[in-house]
Amino acid sequence: MSITILGIESSCDDTGAAVIRDGKLLSNVTASQKVHENYGGVVPELASRAHQQNIVPVVSTALKEAGVSKEELSAVCVTLGPGLMGSLLVGVSFAKGLAASLGIPLIEANHLQGHVMANQLTQALEYPFLCLLVSGGNSQILRVDAYNKMTILGQTIDDAAGEAMDKCSKVMGFGYPGGPIIDKLARKGNPDAYTFAKPNVKNLDYSFSGLKTSFLYFLRDELKKDALFVEHHKEDLAASLEKTIVDILMKKLKLAVKQTGIRHVALSGGVSANTALRQAFLNQEKAGNWKVYIPPFSFTTDNAAMIAITGYYKYLDKDFCPLDKPAYSKVGIKPV
Ligand code: KG4
Repeated sequence: MSITILGIESSCDDTGAAVIRDGKLLSNVTASQKVHENYGGVVPELASRAHQQNIVPVVSTALKEAGVSKEELSAVCVTLGPGLMGSLLVGVSFAKGLAASLGIPLIEANHLQGHVMANQLTQALEYPFLCLLVSGGNSQILRVDAYNKMTILGQTIDDAAGEAMDKCSKVMGFGYPGGPIIDKLARKGNPDAYTFAKPNVKNLDYSFSGLKTSFLYFLRDELKKDALFVEHHKEDLAASLEKTIVDILMKKLKLAVKQTGIRHVALSGGVSANTALRQAFLNQEKAGNWKVYIPPFSFTTDNAAMIAITGYYKYLDKDFCPLDKPAYSKVGIKPV
């Protein structure tokens, strides 16, 4: 009998639903919330309200596009955390209600584990592998021994890589989220035009707050000399900032490969959409150093397909979640 999983994602500002049957993705629907653009960041209460508006139509569309009725579902898998509590509660409550009414199991997914599993949607992963997980809230190097056995080898001690891009974009007066804007501008800029601080942190950990401050001070000084400095040099600024962030990320990742001897390396999280970072991975593969796993663009940012595939593997292991288990906002990646 086939196994059909509905995945639901609502941890931040994207409402997502996806259907997977026997490991094959049938539909993947995401409603991105535009309401935050005017605020330079996600406004939690607005996000919760938008999830409430989106959840029913998004799930209905995902089922319709998959050609699957509710009664055909084997289980519902939902992101239980980490994320914004008000956002999580919308998806979690909906998933619990649906699972209870259909009499099928509920499965919980860790959002970060889901990002890693996004790679599994398009290719067979060979364990163990390392994964660079880079998003707006996290920057981690993981050792992945199985879909449910992930160990943090290093992580940011302050800001995440995506957060650094978003904040630097904000001080330049660009929109939110800054990552895609910087990526686009950087394609036309000189990555060696300016240098910014690359903090020295121990072991495999990262730090991006020093870079952010160095960028801010540099801009402040230049703007004193030329009030239109950003306008005149935005491409070079974006390219140099992007290069600095990619260099920081790759340096520790190369060290992790050296320390572990694991040469299969995956990329995941929102920042994995970044052109220069993807290219840096491909360069390692071209040089014969690594075998790389890079998710297609559609699976880089928050989506429910990655939650549904996680649910599929958990279903095979009969790893179900009690209906009284609460959502959690802050726990990092760990086997659940
Ligand atoms: O994983 P994600 O969708 O959300 C969470 O943080 O959970 O990641 C969002 C982050 C934002 O910081 C955004 O600026 C960044 O991913 N991002 C990018 C690109 N696309 C999204 N950063 C650099 N280059 C991109 N093309």
